Amino acid sequence: QSELSTDKPLHQKKVLVSAGPTFEAIDPVRFIGNHSSGKMGYAIAEELAMQGANVTLVSGPTHLQTQHKNIRTIRVTSAKEMLDECSSIFPVIDIAVMSAAVADYTPIEVASQKIKKTESEFSIALTKTKDVLGELGKQKKPNQLLVGFALETNNELDNAKAKLEKKNLDFIVLNSLNDKGAGFQKDTNKISILDKKGAIESFDLKPKTEVAKDIVNKIVSLLHA
Ligand code: CTP
Ligand code: CA
Repeated sequence: QSELSTDKPLHQKKVLVSAGPTFEAIDPVRFIGNHSSGKMGYAIAEELAMQGANVTLVSGPTHLQTQHKNIRTIRVTSAKEMLDECSSIFPVIDIAVMSAAVADYTPIEVASQKIKKTESEFSIALTKTKDVLGELGKQKKPNQLLVGFALETNNELDNAKAKLEKKNLDFIVLNSLNDKGAGFQKDTNKISILDKKGAIESFDLKPKTEVAKDIVNKIVSLLHA
């Protein structure tokens, strides 16, 4: 491979990546979150930058750091903040890869003081968050490439296909949680890629850094198609 940056396949492409979980505040000390480590999204951001892209990484709370100088990181906490950052950047973006594990529900109200325990049961009223990827799918112009993820435990292919269509994606990365080495907090993943033309490609269980290469290769091949 040439050392000349102008020869890299994603030279001067503006790419948006979302990564990590979101935290939805309940009160000043508590939140609703999930087990996403952010590793997959950060690996994708690094690989895209290595291929010449200018990457904006919108990251939920993680302990990860980026290496490549062409990655600009915007840190957010909640689904609402992730939506606001992603949708404001998206109009100038060539390629967006939404790998964040965005919370689907958020408390209707955030208590201003710490909620004290009582003898009775306790419940929190939740409202649905906006789908960041779905919103970008609505805004998407023909020259923009949009990639999403699907995390499924059953009916994997059908559910992933439905998300691909509903969210107006170019392709979707199906994460198989069934495989013991795959998923949350792990360093490996097992994926399949389904594209909008109906092609399905399944990959072996491998390190997330290698999975990131498979995903970026798919992006490059679609750009050249
Ligand atoms: N996603 C998003 N914003 C949300 C929820 C999901 O951007 N509020 C994105 C994720 O980043 C991922 C894709 O949508 O790229 C699929 O997420 P997933 O949780 O698998 O699907 P959902 O559409 O949320 O449906 P469900 O959780 O009910 O399966
Ligand atoms: Ca979800």
